[in-house]
Amino acid sequence: MHRWFNEPRATRWLMERRDSFSYKDADDWTRRAVEGADEDRKFAILVRGREQPVGFTALYGLFRQTAPELGILVADRSSVAHVGRIAEAMTIAAAFRDFGAHKLYGRIPSRNRAAKWVVESLGWRREAIMRGHLLQDDSTTEDLELWGVSPEEFHAATADLRAILD
Ligand SMILES: CC(C)(COP(=O)(O)OP(=O)(O)OC[C@H]1O[C@@H](n2cnc3c(N)ncnc32)[C@H](O)[C@@H]1OP(=O)(O)O)[C@@H](O)C(=O)NCCC(=O)NCCS
Repeated sequence: MHRWFNEPRATRWLMERRDSFSYKDADDWTRRAVEGADEDRKFAILVRGREQPVGFTALYGLFRQTAPELGILVADRSSVAHVGRIAEAMTIAAAFRDFGAHKLYGRIPSRNRAAKWVVESLGWRREAIMRGHLLQDDSTTEDLELWGVSPEEFHAATADLRAILD
């Protein structure tokens, strides 16, 4: 976590970026993730043949009337094709099956085409565009897109992943 959150290339698209992220911050983050005691759940992305995770997925704000948000960071390269898509699909399936979510949503900067490709391939739909919502480091602004998916839309779009998800 310490390495990933201090790597601008990895964190460039994340919604919440911090000015600094110490070893203690990484330790606290990981400890809270393992405990899973609050309304968030975090999952390490593990690929066969690699000891270290290549990233993580997250569900923020479970158990509320409002839909939880999906988050993902694939920070390290691996030889697995579409690792982000598969990790997202497994996390979304868990949100609906294990945590009773009625819907999921995500905030995606409009230029993050990989993230949009992945969610669209999993049945998500773009629901709104917040114009100029994101302030970039160079003080330009960018549109932020709101995407969402229902259990039915997700299941209809992921027939190719049934063997992994069931
Ligand atoms: C977004 C993210 C999860 C995607 O994971 P990934 O493992 O790279 O994605 P996948 O391999 O599953 O799918 C990538 C697909 O996206 C599409 N894609 C990738 N970059 C693209 C681009 N610049 N323009 C258009 N399509 C693109 C391609 O179709 C690609 O499929 P292909 O390899 O068959 O061509 C990952 O890149 C990531 O963690 N990015 C940083 C954090 C982030 O953006 N999180 C989401 C915050 S909103």
